[in-house]
Amino acid sequence: MFEGKHVTLTISGSVAAYKAATLARELQRAGAIVRIVLTQAAAKFVTPATFAALTKQPVLTDATWWRDDGQIAHVELADWTDLAIAAPASANLMAQFANGLADDVASATWLATSAPKIVVPAMNSHMWQADATQRNRQQLIDDGVTVLMPATGALAEGYSGTGRFLEPTEIVRQISQLALFTPQTLQGKSVIVTAGGTRERLDPVRFLTNDSSGKMGYAVAAAAQQAGANVTLITAPTRLTPPADVTVVPIQSTTDLANAVLTRFPMADALVMAAAVADFQPLTTANQKIKKTKDNDELILKLKKTPDILAEVAKIKRADQVTVGFAAETQNLLVNAQHKLDSKSLDLLAANDVSRADIGFNSDDNQVTFIQADGVSDQTPKTSKTRIAAALIAKLATILATK
Ligand code: CTP
Repeated sequence: MFEGKHVTLTISGSVAAYKAATLARELQRAGAIVRIVLTQAAAKFVTPATFAALTKQPVLTDATWWRDDGQIAHVELADWTDLAIAAPASANLMAQFANGLADDVASATWLATSAPKIVVPAMNSHMWQADATQRNRQQLIDDGVTVLMPATGALAEGYSGTGRFLEPTEIVRQISQLALFTPQTLQGKSVIVTAGGTRERLDPVRFLTNDSSGKMGYAVAAAAQQAGANVTLITAPTRLTPPADVTVVPIQSTTDLANAVLTRFPMADALVMAAAVADFQPLTTANQKIKKTKDNDELILKLKKTPDILAEVAKIKRADQVTVGFAAETQNLLVNAQHKLDSKSLDLLAANDVSRADIGFNSDDNQVTFIQADGVSDQTPKTSKTRIAAALIAKLATILATK
């Protein structure tokens, strides 16, 4: 996402400053090279040494601003910056930025940079709601700065309100949705992504499902959206927030999913089946809760095969359409994967070993082997699902361009 990008993270005086250490790590995990600016107030909460050690880069503070080697530190850093993030941004820092002040190293560096800018506020709820802060927020937006909304919840003061610093993973998620650096390889294309584990109902309160969290599918939907596609996310229930600006179609069962995919596929340019689809469904679903009685020491469930959605899609697929599948395997990964690619007429397949505890189902990371219909295959390193999704979308766009 931020592969090789130079991100300058400005940290201001807030109790939440300690969370900026996690944010710096998350940005690095997403591929960024991070440099830190600490305001004088921030340095009361966290130390430059922490951030220098984390980022392996010099930390700029008011104390290290003016040097005797002829370098103008704030301009050098501003020119290096591809993306400027102020997080946590206090009310004071927002006021400095909104008014174009350059009276300390943080505001001077901010003013000097022409890179895209993002402000992540963190402050007391009354300070956030104050007319002056809201005026400054609007001014920043008018100046082209992206200002994320602070969270509502427990504040350091002991009461609840709006002004809480967003969680670092949420900040990275929201920023990565801004498509700051992604080439628009799917501009104007319509892409369907399926996600999550389908649920097969036994009765009104019970269902059969699997370990899928939906993270891989949601990451693919976000990556497609950032590449400029119109995305329809057909999703089984998950705990995740869908990316902004995608059309969400909620489903439960494999039959629902099959209907949703098959009715929309003719209008789509590409389909990515990341959903973990139940292969069997109960023969019947009880209308009432199944009760235990004196006589039923055993409950025997009869299951029948579900439709193979990708196999059905293969029957109606046009030459200009691309289909991508996943193969969840616990053994003979490549042989089984190649068989799925062929039998489902896929253009691309991402095979992953779901027997490994450190990747795959429910994890934030994954490692996949991409196999293409033209015989090309390559293996990704173990990395975040966000990066794997970006790699998948890059391949999808290349294949689509040749159709
Ligand atoms: N899939 C599908 N319809 C199904 C089952 C799976 O479209 N009824 C899709 C999945 O979304 C995935 C691909 O097919 O993209 C492979 O799914 P997987 O569960 O790995 O394999 P199956 O085809 O179900 O075969 P098996 O369970 O025997 O490995």
